[in-house]
Amino acid sequence: MANVLIGICGGIASYKVCDLIRDLKREGYNVKTILTPFAEKFLSPMTFETLSGNKSYTDKDWPKEPLAHINLARWADAFLIAPTTANTISKIACGIADNLLTTTVLAYGKALIVAPAMNTVMYKAPQVQENLNKLKEIGHIVVEPEFGVLACEEVGEGKLASKERLIDWIYYYLEEKGLKGKKVLITCGATKEYIDPVRFISNESSGEMGFSLAKICRWKGAQVKVIAGFTTAQEPPEIEIKRVKTAEEMRKKVLENFDWSDIVIMNAAVSDFKPVKTESKKIKKKERITLELVKNVDILEELGKIKERKILVGFALESERLIEHAREKLIRKNLDLIVANPAEVMGTKHHKGFLITKEEIKEFSFSSKLESARFIVEYLVGKFLQGGG
Ligand code: CTP
Repeated sequence: MANVLIGICGGIASYKVCDLIRDLKREGYNVKTILTPFAEKFLSPMTFETLSGNKSYTDKDWPKEPLAHINLARWADAFLIAPTTANTISKIACGIADNLLTTTVLAYGKALIVAPAMNTVMYKAPQVQENLNKLKEIGHIVVEPEFGVLACEEVGEGKLASKERLIDWIYYYLEEKGLKGKKVLITCGATKEYIDPVRFISNESSGEMGFSLAKICRWKGAQVKVIAGFTTAQEPPEIEIKRVKTAEEMRKKVLENFDWSDIVIMNAAVSDFKPVKTESKKIKKKERITLELVKNVDILEELGKIKERKILVGFALESERLIEHAREKLIRKNLDLIVANPAEVMGTKHHKGFLITKEEIKEFSFSSKLESARFIVEYLVGKFLQGGG
């Protein structure tokens, strides 16, 4: 797994990096840390050594290891600075190398992931903003701080980005950009078709697969938009998510964004039926009622008719004759790829199925939806974008 170097500056948010290191270790990364002299006043190197299982470097180590800045820079596959203070932002922008951290930055020579955290007034100071813009121009990634109550008890922008966002940016940084310049539209979750204002019919769907696909596509350099029905899975960070309720609303949003897209992945569990009529008032209890349903519009089939050169990916969940039924949908809906899953994967962590195109069938089986999503997206890139078909 990759080596992540974390530079820690002297800010109160440095305590949050402890939790981040634990999570990165759990995800399998090797972590090393460098503390600025002021960071040492907040937390001791021993804290970071215990969490990372590796030496935590400070300026005091330099005389003992004069090439520490070069060695650390060569070791790192990704270099995150969190929290980054106004002082360190400004030093990096000017190329100042007056401690082990800022010297390692110069020796690294590649894009950094810079996560500022400070008081709002300091963050908004024109000098800091100008220097942050300079970092972006150089090609560094600036992970914008969040809005909230700050350590100084002021409310505003300046909170260190959440560890979920920081980890997501590390994944982004390390991923090959096979989808650079591509625009991917993904639907996920379940639509609800309302019987009355409080009752509805729907499908089982957590949205986890769609969100995982969105993450992988973003990490691979695509611009991603997600149109989501109802979901229970955690939303992916840094991705635009538009929420819809019914199949009709989903259809409208998908069509609005269809021209924008190069690739459309219809992962949503769209309700195949809707009540003929939605009552405007809550239906009172009765011994028996009859619900009349009509077929909903098939969004994917509609897209298949107007797709031209876009890549269209559908999903099929089947209880029987999986490959045969999925193949039939691939042809009927004019798709480039269909992901066929047996119904038994519903609600389980383990995920398996087949990728089916007109020419081939590929079986897959993974212990998480994120791994399956990676397999699907990499297959798509290899087959349709790198001339692998
Ligand atoms: N889909 C859609 N609009 C619908 C129903 C489904 O766009 N009204 C899309 C789903 O997002 C999925 C694919 O079509 O990508 C397959 O959905 P599925 O319900 O399995 O297939 P159906 O064509 O509805 O066939 P059946 O329910 O008979 O299996």
